[in-house]
Amino acid sequence: MSPDVNARRLFFALWPSDDLREQVARGVAPALEGRRARPVPSANFHITIAFLGSIAAGKLPAVIDAADQVDGEPFELTLDRLESWRAAHAVCMTISMIPPALAAVVERLRFSLLARRVAADQKPFRAHLTVARDWREGGLDQPVGPYRWPVTEFVLVESTLRPGGSQYHVVRAWPLAQKRR
Ligand code: 2AM
Repeated sequence: MSPDVNARRLFFALWPSDDLREQVARGVAPALEGRRARPVPSANFHITIAFLGSIAAGKLPAVIDAADQVDGEPFELTLDRLESWRAAHAVCMTISMIPPALAAVVERLRFSLLARRVAADQKPFRAHLTVARDWREGGLDQPVGPYRWPVTEFVLVESTLRPGGSQYHVVRAWPLAQKRR
């Protein structure tokens, strides 16, 4: 089958404020400076909650409908560790305590996508914000921050490949506000 030229590369994510992006970029810089790695531009920082990959344009309404059905509550994340992930050659900010409200929204979203036959990556969720790729150094595991992140929405992001690397664009946002039944 020939590739679908109208397909879009999509994922659902938590999207930090500009202020948080700057704080994290400043906080991780000393650990990355002079090391063999490619820092991720702070404009690209995010936490993926459901990875869709290449999605046919005709499937976009189902993707949006799946997210429309997801109830959730706001929560606070604390980014507090900087770790290298050997197999992925990545350096990530991680979270020691995953709030139950985050786990719940991830589960509901993935279920809602499945129910609409939208294929999402099924790997167990490991919340992380990638700050560097192509890490060619030894293990890294240290406290950084903590950076508090009040999360009030999740977003659908489109990724496009540009000569300088991936560029992300927020397609739509969904507020996390528990519906009163
Ligand atoms: P990463 O930062 O750990 O590489 C855009 O590529 C986003 O989707 C990134 O957050 C990336 O995670 C994530 N991603 C890419 N491929 C994925 C896959 N097969 N399964 C889950 N997440 C993926």
